[in-house]
Amino acid sequence: MEKKKLYIQTFGCQMNVQDSEKMAALLEGSGYESTDDSGLADLIILNTCSIREKAAQKIYSQLGRFQALKAQKPQLIIGVGGCLAQQWGERFFRRAPSLDLVFGTHQIHRLPEMVGDLERKGERKVETDLCDRVCSLELPAQPPSGAISSFVTIMQGCNNFCAYCVVPYLRGREESRPLPEIVGEVEMLTRRGIREVTLLGQNVNSYGQTRSDGRDFADLICTLGGIAGIERIRFTTSHPKDLSPRLIGCFGKVAPLCEHIHLPVQSGSDRVLGLMNRGYTAGMYLEKVAALRKACPGISITSDVIVGFPGEEESDFEATLALMREVRFDNLFSFQYSVREGTAAASMDQKVSSAVKRERLQILQELQAVHTLENNRACIGRMESVLVEGPSKKESTEMTGRTRGNRIVNFEGKRDRIGKTMFVRITEAFPHSLHGEMEEKGAADVH
Ligand code: 5AD
Ligand code: SF4
Repeated sequence: MEKKKLYIQTFGCQMNVQDSEKMAALLEGSGYESTDDSGLADLIILNTCSIREKAAQKIYSQLGRFQALKAQKPQLIIGVGGCLAQQWGERFFRRAPSLDLVFGTHQIHRLPEMVGDLERKGERKVETDLCDRVCSLELPAQPPSGAISSFVTIMQGCNNFCAYCVVPYLRGREESRPLPEIVGEVEMLTRRGIREVTLLGQNVNSYGQTRSDGRDFADLICTLGGIAGIERIRFTTSHPKDLSPRLIGCFGKVAPLCEHIHLPVQSGSDRVLGLMNRGYTAGMYLEKVAALRKACPGISITSDVIVGFPGEEESDFEATLALMREVRFDNLFSFQYSVREGTAAASMDQKVSSAVKRERLQILQELQAVHTLENNRACIGRMESVLVEGPSKKESTEMTGRTRGNRIVNFEGKRDRIGKTMFVRITEAFPHSLHGEMEEKGAADVH
């Protein structure tokens, strides 16, 4: 019998990318196969994100397109999952009258059952309960075949309640997976050819705090570092207040742990950090950066910043620029503050105008472009170990991969190098990538 076709579109963060892979694997077990063409689909799922207003707008317009498709093909099933589904629940049906299924962030494991019910009974469904024990957290990673890198979810939810952030309301309270389960999953992934794992969670530094076995994130890193076949370990995302000296000490000591940390600062102003409920000052952040650089000279440090948080004055913004000049981040993701329903900041006065937010964002991005290029240029002449990911997008004869510091490197090379770690001498630096020449003498040995 011909299989039914499944089309999943993913919005937002890496957590969602991973959840979509799990959804596909679950539905492949109940008679579906994935397609890249939404026009051929029998089932379309939008895995949504609600972190910022812009992401939500994109999703509504895409849903409009899929509804038009359904007008021509009434048997098509359309479902929405992820954070926006969790937030809107039943209300999603009002926005999208031909939608069939709304399922929340804790309901992924029930997807085959929900879709089966829909096929049999044709009833619309809303399933957005946040469970005490998150069953979908137990679903193993399902990287596409041939992949060399995989995400591994180690925890879900967040207990921090930063004033701007909707995540704790949509992903529920923090819940960590047992350490042996994570180890088993990483071992399974190595048997499938995975060489690099990125440990995922809203705040990985507080891994283990909800468990009673006394094992923390540093323990997890050390244990995973001993698994044969795992060449690179990364993690995201970290909260500066929970970055412990033990974890800092893992850099440079646990061989597969890559020399890169994404450490969102959000603002350089103590007053704004207080309003945001971040639990640290700019000075404390700078101390952590200094400790990281002492433990691991040359470590790449990337960050997130929000401009235009309610009450942000010109002097607060200047403090953010001053912090950036001091740290000189290797890369920075920057956003204009957007109001999220239900968060503490939504009811704060002194909202910053769109024009000011836009202007501040531009100034900040111009400064970051200088720092990124400066740091990229400093790589020229260095020999970097590069895990080769595949052909480069622009040049057919070139391969692309990443350094341990997470910089993209393009270089002349053959396809048989994909999945291998090569030494590459860096020859040129660009705003978003490096160019280099591969050493012909075989793969760089593990780490
Ligand atoms: N407005 C703007 N940016 C936000 N982020 C989270 N919530 C908001 C919001 N309401 C940003 C933060 C976070 C990143 C994932 O998204 O910088 O680190
Ligand atoms: Fe949101 Fe703060 Fe939790 Fe990150 S730590 S998910 S920004 S509440």
